[in-house]
Amino acid sequence: MNTAIGALSGMPAPSVSRTAIKDYTVDPMILTDDEFRLFSQLIYDESGISLKEAKRDFLQARLQKRAAMNQLSSFYRYYKLVTDRAQGQRELMDLMDSLTINETSFFRIKPQFDLLANYVIPELKKKKNNSKKLRFWSAGCSKGQEAYSIAMSLLQHLELPNAWDIRIVASDISLKALERAQEGLYHEFEVDVVKPRWRERHFTRKNESYQIKPHVQRLVVFDYHNLKHENGMKGLDAIFCRNVMIYFDEHEQRRLIEKFHASLADGGYLFLGHTESLQGLSDKFQFIYRNKGAVYQKRGPEID
Ligand SMILES: C[S@@+](CC[C@H](N)C(=O)[O-])C[C@H]1O[C@@H](n2cnc3c(N)ncnc32)[C@H](O)[C@@H]1O
Repeated sequence: MNTAIGALSGMPAPSVSRTAIKDYTVDPMILTDDEFRLFSQLIYDESGISLKEAKRDFLQARLQKRAAMNQLSSFYRYYKLVTDRAQGQRELMDLMDSLTINETSFFRIKPQFDLLANYVIPELKKKKNNSKKLRFWSAGCSKGQEAYSIAMSLLQHLELPNAWDIRIVASDISLKALERAQEGLYHEFEVDVVKPRWRERHFTRKNESYQIKPHVQRLVVFDYHNLKHENGMKGLDAIFCRNVMIYFDEHEQRRLIEKFHASLADGGYLFLGHTESLQGLSDKFQFIYRNKGAVYQKRGPEID
């Protein structure tokens, strides 16, 4: 099996479209229509995130902050900076970081984690009994709670987890979120939802916080990856990409689903957020619904 996402380490060169822009003489910190179009196109080209008119104030506020941090007094100058291939790459990443919504939690959408525990893991146990290799991807992992929830579920529901070769790749476009994920330190209110028994087993208490233990952390590999780009992974058993696709337009959603399809093993599972669906996007998956939990399964002959 080929999991190439490790190759994602290091930052992919952002693809920046260069569009001519006039130096506006109007109040420089009010986003003009043209500037809004330019920045939203840049962000779309860069990440697939589609910013509609309703997000204009949000974009203006974030741009204002980033421009001020760079001591630039107009959006035009800031645009020049982020589209400068030589100087602007890091700032473009920081801009993307400031635009992402990183809301997440442990065991978010509980019925899906019940489905993972009661249906998907038992199925994988049978299917992968010979190779004992499990490969998961938390795509758009934010601060890591999703990936650690998968890891804890596997540890709890595989009878002899040490006999299994488990790797959960967890990736995001937000460097700040990835740093927190890697650190694995969560405030007590964030781990409230974790069952007390599991909390005791998989976290160490540190004052008001909880540190994820090394036996969980070693199952997860965090990596920077922009979902607009190819991921190079093959043969995955399951992909969690929840509450990410909602930020993309239909064109980018279709492209993403094609990439996920190519990365999954036959019979592999795709978990989406509960406001997301493959309806009208792909017929290459079968929809499974049990006890309010939903997952898609890639059609095709089952393999070990
Ligand atoms: C709302 S959070 C969802 C986190 C987690 N999957 C969950 O459901 O709890 C969305 C995440 O998607 C990430 N994201 C947005 N666009 C992305 C892209 N093009 N590539 C990778 N990650 C992206 C954001 O940085 C953010 O952390």
